[in-house]
Amino acid sequence: MSDRFQSDWLALREPLDHFARSRSLLPRLHDWCAGRDPLRILDLGAGTGSNLRWLSPHLKQRQDWTLVDHDPALLALVRTKIPGLQWRCIQADLGAWDHYADQHPYDLVTASALLDLVSKTWLDTLVDACRLRAAAVMMALNYDGHIEWSTPDPWDPTVGEAVNTHQTRNKGLGAALGPSASAQLADGLRAVNYFVWIEPSAWDIGCESPGLARMLVDGWVAAASEQDPAHESDFRAWGERRCRDLLSGHSRVRVGHQDLLALPDTAR
Ligand SMILES: C[S@@+](CC[C@H](N)C(=O)[O-])C[C@H]1O[C@@H](n2cnc3c(N)ncnc32)[C@H](O)[C@@H]1O
Repeated sequence: MSDRFQSDWLALREPLDHFARSRSLLPRLHDWCAGRDPLRILDLGAGTGSNLRWLSPHLKQRQDWTLVDHDPALLALVRTKIPGLQWRCIQADLGAWDHYADQHPYDLVTASALLDLVSKTWLDTLVDACRLRAAAVMMALNYDGHIEWSTPDPWDPTVGEAVNTHQTRNKGLGAALGPSASAQLADGLRAVNYFVWIEPSAWDIGCESPGLARMLVDGWVAAASEQDPAHESDFRAWGERRCRDLLSGHSRVRVGHQDLLALPDTAR
């Protein structure tokens, strides 16, 4: 998959993302948010606003959202059906996190489908900034490296390994953490006295999502081929078999994600 995200990819994944997200983290977030009115929310790597569309109806108080992304074409597509919701978009690179974060006070930092793209250094800056402001953190749909097919293909492990190694390339914010991002963020936040909860938010994909299935397999083939060019034709053949399997209903694929909620221990 290219380092720039296409709006059609984000549109295809949005219904699956919304279905997959963990509801069990919400009661803790609600308790923490009580009395914060409006709740100031910073959404990092917001894309077309999928995170806002999922989370805002689940929160009970007035909200003031700031959506940050470096891609103006994605930000131009941000829409919400919630009347009266306050929100604004900022076109900025997440590498300049500390610069703009200072100008936009927030109670909650959130992101969806972003965490696996960032580096350890970036994560440390995030942890530090949240600690200083005693802000809550909710990071959803963090890819965890598990791709499980309901029927086996001999090339699944090779493709999976190449894809996961490709995940750790530099995606613009330093060497990406890829599948280890949730665990590393949890460690960083616990070290500064946050309470952290992680819940699964996996995709379960089959023939009812043909567009997403095709784009996902194509993306895996492209990533694996870039990582291991000597096997490009094997990866292409694998992709054709796996598209057929998914689209015919012969197979399903489970793509592991995790949702993370972290709350500061304000009593300490
Ligand atoms: C996988 S998309 C997720 C978008 C959205 N949060 C969602 O759930 O649909 C990752 C987003 O992060 C943005 N992004 C990636 N690297 C960035 C950077 N260095 N600065 C700002 N935005 C970035 C991309 O433009 C893209 O919108």
